[in-house]
Amino acid sequence: MAERPYIVGNWKMNGTRAMLSEARAIDRAAQRYMKVEVAVAPPYTLIHAVHKEAEQIGIGAQDCHSGAEGAHTGDINASMVADAGAKFVILGHSERRQDHAETNELINAKIESALEAGLRVILCCGESLETRDAGEAESFVLGQLRAALPIFQDPADRLTIAYEPIWAIGTGRTATVEDIAAMHRAIRALLDETFGEDVSAKVRILYGGSVKPDNAREILAVPEVGGALVGGASLSAENFLGIVVGAS
Ligand code: G3P
Repeated sequence: MAERPYIVGNWKMNGTRAMLSEARAIDRAAQRYMKVEVAVAPPYTLIHAVHKEAEQIGIGAQDCHSGAEGAHTGDINASMVADAGAKFVILGHSERRQDHAETNELINAKIESALEAGLRVILCCGESLETRDAGEAESFVLGQLRAALPIFQDPADRLTIAYEPIWAIGTGRTATVEDIAAMHRAIRALLDETFGEDVSAKVRILYGGSVKPDNAREILAVPEVGGALVGGASLSAENFLGIVVGAS
């Protein structure tokens, strides 16, 4: 198993420079919980400012374009977010798959571009309630990952998986610990099959979907849960650190 639990805050489309005080508070507190790896993914507009403030926490981007620099108005590519101070990028988040019609193929192209720019990747997966109710959750999620995994030449260093059931995101309803355990076991088995057990064991599988201070300890105790990808609760240093405490 990878060395430390990984708690990542995905700020999504939230945050102006006023949020820098929260980033500073998270960074200061993270220095007291060195047994937990803590990171935040602010909006593009704050990556450099948070990077300049942070001493302990990791900084990441929430997405990146799949191409090189050029005539793509409004887009930002992997080398640009790396240049701004990002060390990782979240790819394949269900909100981007949904809002921007991102396909597995496009996400795989983004992975290649992110790895080339020296970034680590948090690769998101997760099913809809309809898919789960149809009993197809595991096959769907593994289908999202299967073609992406071989892209990683050094998964132990560059890959983190985030399982986020779509129906648990922002709803206050988390998956049951039984559902989380079953899906993380299935993802671990695919990682074992793809990379071998020794390398697979170093790839953390995060859970995301309404993680809060009051449920974090229980979720993080589930086998094969290597951390959490946190949305709403990461916008408040107090709430986010409550989750970090749950991981420590
Ligand atoms: O990427 C993390 C996010 O999708 C989870 O959101 O607000 O349910 O913690 P939230």
